[in-house]
Amino acid sequence: MSSELSVNHLLGIKYLKREDIDLIFKTADHFKEVINRPIKKVPSLRDITIANLFFENSTRTRLSFELAEKRLSADVINFSAASSSVKKGETLIDTVNNILSMKVDMVVMRHPNPGAGIFLSKHVKASIINAGDGAHEHPTQALLDSYSIREKLGEVKGKKVVIVGDILHSRVALSNIFALKLQGAEVKVCGPKTLLPKYIESLGVEVETNLKKALEWCDVANMLRVQNERMDISYFPSTREYIKQFGLNKKLLESLDKEIVIMHPGPINRGVEITSDVADSEHAIILDQVQNGVAIRMAAIYLLASKIKQ
Ligand code: CP
Repeated sequence: MSSELSVNHLLGIKYLKREDIDLIFKTADHFKEVINRPIKKVPSLRDITIANLFFENSTRTRLSFELAEKRLSADVINFSAASSSVKKGETLIDTVNNILSMKVDMVVMRHPNPGAGIFLSKHVKASIINAGDGAHEHPTQALLDSYSIREKLGEVKGKKVVIVGDILHSRVALSNIFALKLQGAEVKVCGPKTLLPKYIESLGVEVETNLKKALEWCDVANMLRVQNERMDISYFPSTREYIKQFGLNKKLLESLDKEIVIMHPGPINRGVEITSDVADSEHAIILDQVQNGVAIRMAAIYLLASKIKQ
């Protein structure tokens, strides 16, 4: 296994090799041990400064990046677009170049525009981590999702994973499809036809519009939130109809001939894509996913920082 990533930025799973994922997981295994110790910090990145730039709301991603950076002993500054000079018209490149002039080495950015991280990586001198760019990619989410499957089921290769819900507007779905396929999993998507991208089958995934059939097929079901903030109402006419066809509830889960692992990237819209009794059941690994997010982000930051230091 290589000891360094093939990339200088983490912009999307699409740009990673299988060996990169293996290296991130191996490094995350080490950091998971570290954060389970009484002293949860290592001095690895005392010489690195990281700026977290969030142009969109976030709870899990923002906090787990900040915690990962602090566990690695990096210096951290946080930027929220809502309270910044972006509101006075400052451009993305000007904003980031001003931040970088304060001797910042790495930028973690969430942005509503697909490709914002890629654009930034071409115009500024810093390592960029995409923390979610519109409906494009959310690479660290997909890495922590695959890592959580590996932890629960031993490996990702050969596992059958169904991603259920609003695939069209989901960066989590796209990054998960790339990551799962790269590791040899079988992937299906399940959701209303209006919420499936037209190109979906070109990614090597099958479509199943019957949720019960999809669940009977899979080892893992990754339930996604309907991203109302990204869609025109015509895509999604009725919440009641959606719940009836694509909502996961206890009765449906108990009607299956087998046990499956339930995942959700959060935030959960309880009672829509998943009922509380399923989300809080022993089948769900939702909080394990969140916990693994810290180790995965420590690994990604550590490996990218190693390249900066060369
Ligand atoms: N899963 C995820 O990206 O959650 P947040 O939007 O809260 O960061």
